Amino acid sequence: MAHIIVVTSGKGGVGKTTSSAAIATGLALKGHKTVVIDFDIGLRNLDLIMGCERRVVYDFVNVINGEANLNQALIKDKRCENLHILPASQTRDKDALTKEGVGKVLDDLADAGFEYIICDSPAGIETGAMMALYFADTAIVTTNPEVSSVRDSDRILGMLQSKSRRAEQNLEPIREYLLLTRYSPTRVKTGEMLSVGDVEEILAIKLLGVIPESQAVLKASNAGVPVILDKESDAGQAYEDTVSRLLGEELPLRFVTEEKKGFLKRIFGS
Ligand SMILES: Nc1ncnc2c1ncn2[C@@H]1O[C@H](COP(=O)(O)OP(=O)(O)OP(=O)(O)O)[C@@H](O)[C@H]1O
Ligand SMILES: [Mg+2]
Repeated sequence: MAHIIVVTSGKGGVGKTTSSAAIATGLALKGHKTVVIDFDIGLRNLDLIMGCERRVVYDFVNVINGEANLNQALIKDKRCENLHILPASQTRDKDALTKEGVGKVLDDLADAGFEYIICDSPAGIETGAMMALYFADTAIVTTNPEVSSVRDSDRILGMLQSKSRRAEQNLEPIREYLLLTRYSPTRVKTGEMLSVGDVEEILAIKLLGVIPESQAVLKASNAGVPVILDKESDAGQAYEDTVSRLLGEELPLRFVTEEKKGFLKRIFGS
């Protein structure tokens, strides 16, 4: 049976698409047949981060409308055997996503043998975001360590618990995880940002990972390569840990304390 994971947030621009690309790639690298779907109709961002934007011919909405079949719209990742991308349409309006249409596509993906279906949600609580979370088994609530982001994440938790299929049908609730992104231990220390502990305490859901603020993320997205493939980078390694935890491994957090200054920096300052 396919496992449906929504990567969601209340506030925009917190790192959902970056995380969806990294986590989907990580799951595929571990041998799981995975598809990542862009629910951000009108914006099309995932295909850029995955580096497949020039190969988009048909998209998610074409499939829902019966203008193309899944095989025609799915893009096979060029680096990773088990990974496929279902891109979003750039022009159509958001009402193109209906519960029936989305549900049918997810069923067809499960029938096609996908083990993990990652839904990259748009921000907020409008149609696209609600459609992305409706069918989820697991939610990765992406949050930055700042008050407004945490507040909006709390709002999304309310939606997961009341507006999802699992809530409506009285099934076991969606498994909720916190993914803290763009974390800067230095800025936590100076009091500009909330700490991991602060955010965990406010949201009270299980912590899946902490991704540090990292230049590797922008570099990777400019190159169209999910940052998890940059194995030397702090963010890449943090995403790798996150994927392992998602698969049930217990791993300690990394990159949550300030880097120790090197000898020269200690003497001469930074
Ligand atoms: N760990 C990180 N370190 C540095 N920059 C990051 C990190 N994660 C994300 N970013 C940057 O933040 C910006 C927003 O990221 P992204 O597009 O993944 O967010 P999003 O939540 O999908 O946004 P939207 O709500 O618009 O869909 C991008 O410029 C991305 O490069
Ligand atoms: Mg996005």
